Order: sequence, then structure tokens, then C-alpha cells
Amino acid sequence: VDTWALRWLDPPDGPAVVLLDQTRLPAEETYLTCTDVASLVDAIGRLVVRGAPLLGLAGAFGVALAAYRGEDVAQAADALARARPTAANLSWGAGRALAAYQAARWNGATTPLNAERIAGRAALAEARAVAAEDAAASAAIAAHGLSLVQEQARILTHCNTGALVSAGEGTAFAIILAAHRAGRLAQLWVDETRPLLQGSRLTAWELETAGIPHAVIADSAAASLMAAGEVDCIVTGADRIAANGDTANKIGTYSLAVLAAHHELPFYVVAPTSTIDPETPTGADIPIEERSGDELTTRFVARNPAFDVTPASLITAIVTEHGVRQPVAP
Ligand code: MRU
Repeated sequence: VDTWALRWLDPPDGPAVVLLDQTRLPAEETYLTCTDVASLVDAIGRLVVRGAPLLGLAGAFGVALAAYRGEDVAQAADALARARPTAANLSWGAGRALAAYQAARWNGATTPLNAERIAGRAALAEARAVAAEDAAASAAIAAHGLSLVQEQARILTHCNTGALVSAGEGTAFAIILAAHRAGRLAQLWVDETRPLLQGSRLTAWELETAGIPHAVIADSAAASLMAAGEVDCIVTGADRIAANGDTANKIGTYSLAVLAAHHELPFYVVAPTSTIDPETPTGADIPIEERSGDELTTRFVARNPAFDVTPASLITAIVTEHGVRQPVAP
């Protein structure tokens, strides 16, 4: 599976991982070719490639790249996993490709060189499997999630969760697409998603491309729209779901969940199971990325946490490729 946002390039042009540069969208559709792991790690940090499921692919294909280039593969997996801390999928994807590489390393190989080749192919095959599974998960998520969407639904979403972050049609966005195709979507509110504007730059652009009517709103407008009775449910993605259901997602998600509780609106979190991290007991244990204050301003001292955690008690249901889990809180 080659996705639009991330693609593997075989030798002789590669080995390389080619990324749609999401920092330049929607003004320019340009591609960045990463021929080594260091450049991919840098691209992940700069959000050239972003969004939890796609970070899983970046981790896995990054490990394959390391193997094909003869880099230290375990070290590469570690560097990739640490490139961004919050999305569980990144270390999960890198870990899967690393395990495939290590398992294949001496499997039937006659010489060390032969072993490296076999292991490299195994890592790449695993990365492709990660992508194929993500595409399948996205389709299953859309089908499960559609059952939660009422006729004439007015949905509010945050950040960017479509084909730019997935090997399929995305997570929350896949449900929105399904609702639109089923004729159930009456209104879609798109949070601009301060400070990097994943909503107004990326989601609005994807919606425009798909021909889906929508309105971009300032993040701070969500409260008054809910108070005015213009929102039926909130649908967001996730970067890490802790064992107890607490969920990290783009900064501003938690405030939406609080607002939804206050206005008695359902708040749906949508993610493949690769985003669920059973090793992280609660939201308090989720590492929250702190990004440079320069992303907010160059004039003032600033803090820039990139994610927040929504307690399980505020989440109405979690939708994965296995179905709808409701209630979430134990
Ligand atoms: O910092 P980003 O742009 O990588 O953050 C992305 C999000 O918060 C998404 O909502 C999340 O990864 C889910 S993507 C389906």
C-alpha cells in the first residue's frame, strides 16, 4: 500500500521514503525525499509527516530504510520512536519493523550480507503490512462509526484526521466521509486548531478536495456554537489512548470534551488499535510533547504543549476497527 502522504521508493531511485510536505500545504504540494533515517527523524520532528496512524507507517518504513542503507537498525528504530513522544503509533510501527528485521536476520542466510538483505526485505514487508492494516482499519472504523451518526448530523471536529494521516481515509475523518456519503451530514464544523492550523490548512483543504461542505471556526467559537444548539456531536482522533481510556490528542481536544459534557453532547474518539497503549495506565502517564514557543510567537516567552489528555469519563465511546466501545470509563 503506497499512501499519498508517504511512499517507499525502491532502488535504484531509492531506497528512500518520500513524504508529502504537510508544512507547505495547502499552498504547495511538494515532496521531500528522505534517503537516510536522520532526515526522516528531522521531517517527523518538523511535522512534514504527522498524525498518529501515519507516524506508525513512518516508523516502520524508517526502520526498513535503515536496513536497506546498512545503518544500525536498532539505533534507527530508537531514534525514530523518540522523534515525537505522544503518538503511540510511532514507536509501535518502528518496533514492528524492527522485530521483523531481527527475526529474519539469520533465518536461512548463508552469509552476513545475505542475512542483511533478507532482514531488510522482512522489515519492508512488515512496513507494508502496517500500511495495509491501517487502510483496512480505517475502512472498518468508518463502518462502525457511522452507526453513531444520526440523520442531519451537525458534527464538530478538531485537528486533521483524513487521508493525510492514514493509509486509508483516516480515522475521525473517515466517519465524517461515511456520514457525508450516507447523506447524514448536515453541517461540519472544523476547528482551525491553533497554533499550527491543522484544521484550517489541512482538514479544510481535504474537505474542499472531497467536495464536502464545511465551515472553519476559531477554536474558541466551539463553546458558543454548542450553546446555540448547532452541534450534535464531537468526533476527534487520538494520539495515545491509555489503558483506562484517557486519551491524548491535539491540544484543545480536552476543552472540547469539557464543553461537550457541559452541553450534554456525545464526544467520540476515533483511532486504530495501534493508538491504544496498554503499557500506559492513565492519561497522567502519557508523555506530552512540548514544542518550541516560536510556533506561537517570536516576541513573547511562550509554552507550547502540543497535546492534552481527555479523561475517559468524558468520552462517550471509542471507535476502533473492532467496533464501538461504550461506556469507556471502567
Ligand atoms: O501534531 P499532529 O499534527 O501530528 O497531531 C495530530 C493529531 O492530533 C491528530 O488528531 C491525531 O494524530 C489523530 S490522526 C488520525
